[in-house]
Amino acid sequence: MNQIKVFSPATISNVACGFDVLGFPIYSIGDEMIVKKTKKKSLIITDITGYSVPYDINKNVSTIAAKAMIESLNPNCGFDFKINKKIIPGSGIGSSGSSAAASVYAINKLLDSPLNENELISFAMRGEVVSSISEHADNVSPAILGGIVMIKSLSPLEVIKLPTPKDLYCFVINPKIEIKTSFSRKILPNKVKLKDTTKQVSTFGSFIHALHTEDYELIGRSLNDYLIEKHRKKLIPLYDEVKSIAIKQGALGCSISGSGPSIFALTKGVEKANEINRLVTELYKTSGNDFSTYVSKISEKGVSTMSN
Ligand code: HSE
Repeated sequence: MNQIKVFSPATISNVACGFDVLGFPIYSIGDEMIVKKTKKKSLIITDITGYSVPYDINKNVSTIAAKAMIESLNPNCGFDFKINKKIIPGSGIGSSGSSAAASVYAINKLLDSPLNENELISFAMRGEVVSSISEHADNVSPAILGGIVMIKSLSPLEVIKLPTPKDLYCFVINPKIEIKTSFSRKILPNKVKLKDTTKQVSTFGSFIHALHTEDYELIGRSLNDYLIEKHRKKLIPLYDEVKSIAIKQGALGCSISGSGPSIFALTKGVEKANEINRLVTELYKTSGNDFSTYVSKISEKGVSTMSN
């Protein structure tokens, strides 16, 4: 195989109760990439469509991740990338994670799969670090593995795929304003209160238990963020109003997606997610901000090969 086309999904990370340690992909949006082997042992980006990202291979997360990978594998060829950047950078739905996951997955396939999924996650994270100035695997892991993923440890990397209750749906609104992850992390405090930490640990634990027991009611009582939301929500137009609509319509929970500005809500069944979509869309039209919304089942599938 000399060429491959891949789809790499957008991801919702943190999931309210698991800052930096939880994430899942959605079906509705993701980056697409065509990667081709070249005779010359180098990397080149020859086409970028969609949202603007750098052509410079030392600045683009896809090629930064790819570079780390080929420095380790030393293959007898180079790679040409054509990127269809569908996820707006700084969106909070794993834009850089999606691109990084796409390139490492594609190269691995073109080289007959020398690396396992954990190794792919490690290389994809190298791209993420550059874009967010921090190590976190809660976007690249679900983008590669699919399903709800928990990051047990970064070093050594240990990720755990959790069960996905079958009626769990996700609503997402992506206001088209850029919030850089690096900035959104800089505004977080270095120290948090012990009593908030205790509450967070217990809701995180109950969320994991609820996934295993398919207890939607307990999922609803676990989707709380005592540590991060209060600091970041001020960056997001109409955050409280969106959350209030979602909760009134019976969402199990609603919180910031990743580092924002996207907001997500989880529901039992698609009808509630569709109704939240309708009402939030009406509200957001008054905000003067451009935005997109998505309703999706939690995707069990990570990055995958597309037919050309
Ligand atoms: N867990 C990271 C954060 C995700 O919230 O900063 C960034 O997409």
